[in-house]
Amino acid sequence: MSDPVIVGTDGSAAASAAVEWAADDAARMRAPLRIVFALNFLPYDIPKFSTPEWEDPLTRNAERVLAEAEALVRERRPEIEVTTQTIEGAPPVVLRDQAVGATEIVVGSRGLGGFAAAVLGSVSMHVAGHARGPVVVVRSGPRAVHGEIVVGIDDSPQCDPALAYAFEQAALRGATLRALYVWQAPVHAYAPEIVYDMDEIRRAQHQVAADKLTSWRQTYPQVKVIEDVRSGHPVEVLTAASKEADLVVVGSHGRGALGSLALGSVSRGVLHHARGNVAVVRSPRL
Ligand SMILES: Nc1ncnc2c1ncn2[C@@H]1O[C@H](COP(=O)(O)OP(=O)(O)OP(=O)(O)O)[C@@H](O)[C@H]1O
Ligand SMILES: [Mg+2]
Repeated sequence: MSDPVIVGTDGSAAASAAVEWAADDAARMRAPLRIVFALNFLPYDIPKFSTPEWEDPLTRNAERVLAEAEALVRERRPEIEVTTQTIEGAPPVVLRDQAVGATEIVVGSRGLGGFAAAVLGSVSMHVAGHARGPVVVVRSGPRAVHGEIVVGIDDSPQCDPALAYAFEQAALRGATLRALYVWQAPVHAYAPEIVYDMDEIRRAQHQVAADKLTSWRQTYPQVKVIEDVRSGHPVEVLTAASKEADLVVVGSHGRGALGSLALGSVSRGVLHHARGNVAVVRSPRL
């Protein structure tokens, strides 16, 4: 049996969308599903409230939220094995730690807290920035099925885990995989006299994308791949592509990998601006 798909819920609408997405994916992967509620007593742990009975409503709420999520899954995907778990601790830490031994972690883009204009909650941001393996951030709202998975690639080895995940997702869904390699034309403000052979650069960039994909295409011959090489800003191009995609997959870092940053600027930008669901896949070394 495969490792479980883990989904975090706080009972919000976005979390329910995450639960539904996770149930569908667990069914596709033939993996069990575990629904987790992180119960944080800490914010309420001040002397005024520290009577023995105060924690009961919080525990009761967690149990109610989990029971509702479980019922949703049983109705939607009766064939999968589903369990629920309340874990005490700060939600970002609890969910991040769950990634060990999980197939993937699924969270909603928003939760119950946050301010109205925020596109991403702090829990989803932290989990996407720190958990090992794939983290899928699900947006609520109606979604058409496009039959296309988009993966953002660059010429760094950091995007290999994202490619592996994207090929697997495309294969499981029978979807087309659009591999987007976005390159930015060199800009030298202080040396405008340097001239570039743009055709040569373009040819080289196409070669980079083709080389990246060769071995994956052999592993997944059934997946139809579109090699899409563009010049522009990666966040802008990936965001535009997200409108027609069922999932956008990015690595956690790219060529500019700075170990100290939780997420590279492209992954962060895509998480904030993409229209649909985004998977961030961290290399085991980062
Ligand atoms: N207590 C929790 N237990 C389990 N999962 C949670 C919990 N809180 C949040 N999540 C998960 O994280 C997702 C995003 O929620 P998050 O808390 O990041 O957003 P928010 O509540 O809008 O903002 P913030 O909490 O930063 O003010 C939720 O949809 C859910 O999947
Ligand atoms: Mg929250």
